[in-house]
Amino acid sequence: MTTTNSRIPVTKAVVPAAGLGTRFLPATKATPKEMLPVVDKPAIQYVVEEAAAAGLSDILMVTGRNKRALEDHFDRAYELEELLARKGDEDRLRRVRESVDLANMHYVRQGDPKGLGHAVSVAEQHVAGQPFAVLLGDDLIDPRDPLLARMIEVQQELGGSVVALMEVDPSQIHLYGCAAVKPNGFGEDVFQVTDLVEKPDTADAPSNYAVIGRYVLDPSVFDVLRETKPGRGGEIQLTDALRELTTRSPETGGQVHGVLFKGRRYDTGDRADYLRAIVRLASEREDLGPEFRSWLREFVASELQD
Ligand code: G1P
Repeated sequence: MTTTNSRIPVTKAVVPAAGLGTRFLPATKATPKEMLPVVDKPAIQYVVEEAAAAGLSDILMVTGRNKRALEDHFDRAYELEELLARKGDEDRLRRVRESVDLANMHYVRQGDPKGLGHAVSVAEQHVAGQPFAVLLGDDLIDPRDPLLARMIEVQQELGGSVVALMEVDPSQIHLYGCAAVKPNGFGEDVFQVTDLVEKPDTADAPSNYAVIGRYVLDPSVFDVLRETKPGRGGEIQLTDALRELTTRSPETGGQVHGVLFKGRRYDTGDRADYLRAIVRLASEREDLGPEFRSWLREFVASELQD
C-alpha cells in the first residue's frame, strides 16, 4: 500500500485564514478572527506552533482582505522590541519575538471566498507537487496530545491522504465532515476511509467519526479540486474532493486514511467553546493558573448557591 509520493517528506503546511469570522462580530469587524486571543496569544499562533512542532517549517497562510494583522504578528515589531529592550523587560521581549522565529511564513490571497476546497486550491503553486499538511485555525489541538506528527508518519508509510477523525455524539455530526471507515491493519488508531460526506444530517451520517481540522494531503487533490463542483452551502468543499480520492487508486495519489484522535481539542470557532478553551488553558498555566483556579472555584461555588 504505497504511492509514488510516499517517500517525499512533508515539509509544508497550509493554513486557510480567509474566513470572515461572522460568529464573533463585532469583535471581528476590523480584526481577523485568527487574531482573537486565547489567554494571551492569538489563536493562530497556537496553530503555527503546532505545525512547527511537527517539523513543518514552511507555512503558507491563505488570507483575504482585512488580514494584514496576521502578517504583522509573524514579523518583527522593531519599535516595540526596542522599547522593551530599553526597559530591560526580557520576558516580554522574548514573548514578542517568539512568533517571528517559528517558521518561514508565506502568504497568498484567496480572492473570492468560495469555500475550504477553494482555499486549499490556491496553495497549489506553493506546494509544488509535494504532500502537505492543512491546519484549520478554528481547531486547537493541545500540544500535549500530538496529532499531526502521527498523521505525517501514517502518510509517509501508506501514501495517499490522511484526515484526522474524532468520535462525536451523533447529534453533533451535522457540524463536521463525516467519514465511513474500515480497519486497515496499520494500528488501532488508523483506518481506511471508504466514504466522506460534508455535514450530513444525523439520520444520513455513515458514522459518528467527525473530520477535524488537520489533514495531510497528496498533491493529486489539486487536480480533483479543479473538477469539484460547489457542494454543501454552495461552496467548494475539501471533503468532496477527498471523497473522490477515496475512489482512486494509490498509483494516482488516491486512498484516504483516517487517524483517530482521542486527545484534547478546542474549537475556537464557536463562542461557547472559545470561552471554554480560554478557561481550560488559563487554569493550566503555571503563571496564571493558581490564582485563576482559586477564583474559578469561588465563582462556581457562588453560582451554585444562586
Ligand atoms: C470544515 C470542514 C469540515 C470539518 C471542519 C473541522 O468545516 O468543511 O469537513 O469537519 O472544518 O473543523 P467548517 O467548520 O469550516 O465549517
